[in-house]
Amino acid sequence: MADIIRIENLTKRFGDLVAVNNVSLSIREGEIFGLLGPNGAGKTTTINMLLTLLLPTSGKITIDGLDLARNHEKVKQLMGLMTQETVVEAELTARQNLELFSSLYHVPANQVQKRIGEALEEADLVQFADKKAGTFSGGMQRRLGLVKAMIQEPKILVLDEPTTGLDVQNRTTMWARIKGLNKKGNTVLLTTQYLEEADQLCDRIGVIDHGKLIALGTPSEVKRIAGSGKILEIVVKNNDVARTASMLKSKFGIAAVVNGDKLTAVMTKNSESEFTKISGALDKEKIEVVSIGMHLPTLDDVFIKLTGTGMRDETGEMKGGRMNIRGWR
Ligand SMILES: Nc1ncnc2c1ncn2[C@@H]1O[C@H](COP(=O)(O)OP(=O)(O)OP(=O)(O)O)[C@@H](O)[C@H]1O
Ligand SMILES: [Mg+2]
Repeated sequence: MADIIRIENLTKRFGDLVAVNNVSLSIREGEIFGLLGPNGAGKTTTINMLLTLLLPTSGKITIDGLDLARNHEKVKQLMGLMTQETVVEAELTARQNLELFSSLYHVPANQVQKRIGEALEEADLVQFADKKAGTFSGGMQRRLGLVKAMIQEPKILVLDEPTTGLDVQNRTTMWARIKGLNKKGNTVLLTTQYLEEADQLCDRIGVIDHGKLIALGTPSEVKRIAGSGKILEIVVKNNDVARTASMLKSKFGIAAVVNGDKLTAVMTKNSESEFTKISGALDKEKIEVVSIGMHLPTLDDVFIKLTGTGMRDETGEMKGGRMNIRGWR
């Protein structure tokens, strides 16, 4: 597959803050690419540079073979954007929202009504077409936001956190819609804070933290970074954390990453029998275990391995603070 977006050594500074730090990656035509990272990672800043809403401090962006710096206007026509915040104009009806975007993006006059009709159907909003978008639920607003981004029939669809704040059901519906658009041939670039979304929806992902790209590949390739062994997770009573970490190190040669009261480690050897031995040792040391378990590596494990801290759980809360006893960086 050809690269439709090529980002080379892209950097954006805001004063002393390096929001995007020397990022290089390519997005292939026809794929769903996910930029995964926690709050403040640099996702929106990256996307805003691709859409010429922000000028890069340095680096090069090529879109569909065109150097973005010299072809702003042409490239703009190729990209449809669903922004993170103001997705719809609250005072306008669904139909008026789509009319406004049709004129902003120069949809040919003889196609406007046809496309709006299709968009309303696709968004399942036909019966709400003439109601103010401000009265819509979060899920309805996102659906309208998505078809609004599609109204110019862009080659590349850019979605900044399309499902943040949606409940599970609305999120699953949104995934199906995004997959549907992708099947029609649109390349999709989306950002997300949800590991599950990156894992299930995206063909390839880039993991970004503090402006740096820390992993890139298919979800399974990226998960392999966490190792081939199973992941051990132990939650202990808070004052037993340090003692557990040092016991794992001295008795089993395991360097666990500590995050709050949770210890995470990659099991290297025969994980099942090692697990039994570790359980026994915790018992013997009278360490108060809240929970203990093993699982196959997830994207969160990759994040922990690369940054020393967890991404976040599905509610969007950070799991514990940034404690980095091992110094993975
Ligand atoms: N216009 C700006 N001026 C100064 N700092 C900014 C500006 N825009 C973003 N930043 C900073 O750059 C960093 C990256 O922000 P960005 O919005 O790209 O993160 P994000 O990954 O999109 O996060 P979120 O998931 O919260 O949307 C943050 O530290 C943010 O405070
Ligand atoms: Mg953002």
